[in-house]
Amino acid sequence: MKNYAELWTAYKERKSNRDCRNLRKICLPETEASDKTAENAVNELKAGLKGMLDIEPEIVFGSKVTSKPVTDGKSILDSEEYSISLIEDGINIAAKSSSAILYAVFDILRTVACEKDITKTYADGKTVRPSNPLRMLNHWDNMDGSIERGYSGESFFYVNNEIVIDERTRDYARLIASVGINAVVINNVNVKQAASYMITDRYFDKLSQLGEIFAGYGIRLFLSLNYASTIEIGGLDSADPLDENVISWWKDKMAEVFKKIPTLAGFLVKADSEGRPGPFTYGRTQADGANMLANIVKEYGGIIIWRCFVYNCRQDWRDRKTDRARAGYDNFMPMDGDYHDNVILQIKNGPMDFQIREPVSPLLGGLKKTNQMLEVQIAQEYTGHQIDVCYLIPEFKEILGFKTYCSEDKDSVADIISGDTFNSRYSGMAAVTNTGNDFNWTGNYLAGANLYGFGRLAFDTGLSSEQIAEEFVRMTISQDETVVKEILGILLPSREIYERYTSPLGIGWMVQPATHYGCSVDGYEYDRWGTYHRADHLGIGVDRTDKGTGYALQYNEPNAGIYNSPEKCPDELVLFFHHLPYTHKLHSGKTVIQHIYDSHFEGYEEAQQLAAKWDQLKGKIDDEVFENVRERFERQLINAREWCDQVNSYFFRKSGIPDEKGRQIW
Ligand code: GCU
Repeated sequence: MKNYAELWTAYKERKSNRDCRNLRKICLPETEASDKTAENAVNELKAGLKGMLDIEPEIVFGSKVTSKPVTDGKSILDSEEYSISLIEDGINIAAKSSSAILYAVFDILRTVACEKDITKTYADGKTVRPSNPLRMLNHWDNMDGSIERGYSGESFFYVNNEIVIDERTRDYARLIASVGINAVVINNVNVKQAASYMITDRYFDKLSQLGEIFAGYGIRLFLSLNYASTIEIGGLDSADPLDENVISWWKDKMAEVFKKIPTLAGFLVKADSEGRPGPFTYGRTQADGANMLANIVKEYGGIIIWRCFVYNCRQDWRDRKTDRARAGYDNFMPMDGDYHDNVILQIKNGPMDFQIREPVSPLLGGLKKTNQMLEVQIAQEYTGHQIDVCYLIPEFKEILGFKTYCSEDKDSVADIISGDTFNSRYSGMAAVTNTGNDFNWTGNYLAGANLYGFGRLAFDTGLSSEQIAEEFVRMTISQDETVVKEILGILLPSREIYERYTSPLGIGWMVQPATHYGCSVDGYEYDRWGTYHRADHLGIGVDRTDKGTGYALQYNEPNAGIYNSPEKCPDELVLFFHHLPYTHKLHSGKTVIQHIYDSHFEGYEEAQQLAAKWDQLKGKIDDEVFENVRERFERQLINAREWCDQVNSYFFRKSGIPDEKGRQIW
């Protein structure tokens, strides 16, 4: 037995489809004999059908497919499209690349694993084209084995500053390819110490092997790059992007790196952010920094993914003018159009930092001439550390569906990051991942739904949260109808429940600064990070209107007008944009203070209901899975109660306004 779970690729016995005639023969396009991805696809198909149905299908190869090197987002999408249709006593897969064959195989295996009828599912033929060219996971793994914001053990890539390659590495590639991931960054965006040496001889062999393994599953390897490598490992005293010595060092370095790691697709860079070095140090722009590197890696087909998480993290809490929320737009909008076409700006979903509720970053819908990628976080940094259940796909659906009004049509975030709106050369979606070397990969088994779900959603943004959750439960936990229903009843409302017992109405933060888990209402209030709720005895919220920091005006109309007005702003974001009296009436008809009390009492109560639902599953699902989640619910309830009581007491004490319903406030 493996010392880790195979989750949705475990291929345990299934009952339906056993007598399906269409599974007797599978026709695939023929690929080059050396094509590892095609070989993996065929092996996966055989293993899956054998494991689930004890079927050994005849595999027939048809017309030949040569995987051509892919040069841009559009051709990624063309090459990854597949069709599945029925033929007499068989199934035919049509695809233009081996990655597409692999995705078609996983489609068939998913249908079997979910016990859907194969013949009915593919009766009319099914053609799938991924929604996004790049579907990427960002690991924040450090080379000493620790994981920044990791809640599921240590890294499975690194032990003691060495790269580890074993059976788990391959199974990881399978696991993420099965949900459609096609790119991965394997080291922390904060590139420190040993990780700076990733681009030296010390790690080339291992990286090249890793790259090959990933390529075998259609996954492109990226590395996080230390922007100041010229200083850190190059012996220069500058990292100025316009300095000839700096440029020349990078030219030599990149020639070496791309030669030694032939599968390398490019780099992710966190520059001028939270203490990381960057072009600002030399009075240069973000575009200067990104373009210098992009220009050099261009000849190797390389891509530079440049993060937009650039803000002043040494703010004075007394200063009400500087607004962290504005920073991304202020720093990146003026250079829209200046970035090379192999640069992609990676934009966090909100303007702050992965809070449970934030408005969508105004850069999405602001930038029109720049390749863009959306960054979300499935590592539950602010959303419960994979202790509290928080199924994030409904949040991601809201973000994708957000109408930015950046063009006449095709103006949603999903449209922009698919490359459709502006015909971008590269685009897509990245998630800071939630995996580690825990047996079940994600600490809490239910957090696996976020890993599964992110991949599925990035591949097909049209899928619903329910559909994704149901697939996850059926493939990973149980086929039993009552079990499926109960677990969906836990996953689907979990994000809103988490929101209800934590910080209210879009204000965010209020977490313990040291860990980002647990309540501390004033934890960030007098700190340097630009993260304030500004509560006093009369009211709460940050004035980001035209009379305040002006952040609301960074949106296109009508969004700017809606957010700018306390009457029009949606309740769930009202304290993000406005400083309001506790007695202000929300659209719901409740006052701000009563909303705070109600939502916290309700959220805690609902968390208890979720835990009780889970308890009902004892004996109906695998004991290990049951116990794992049960133990986490125990901790979630302690957390939820603390949040509820601390937030309610804090605001009662500040405002002096009692709860209308007379519930206990401490
Ligand atoms: C947050 C997080 C950091 C991380 C940073 C980032 O600030 O707490 O650990 O490095 O985001 O996204 O770069």
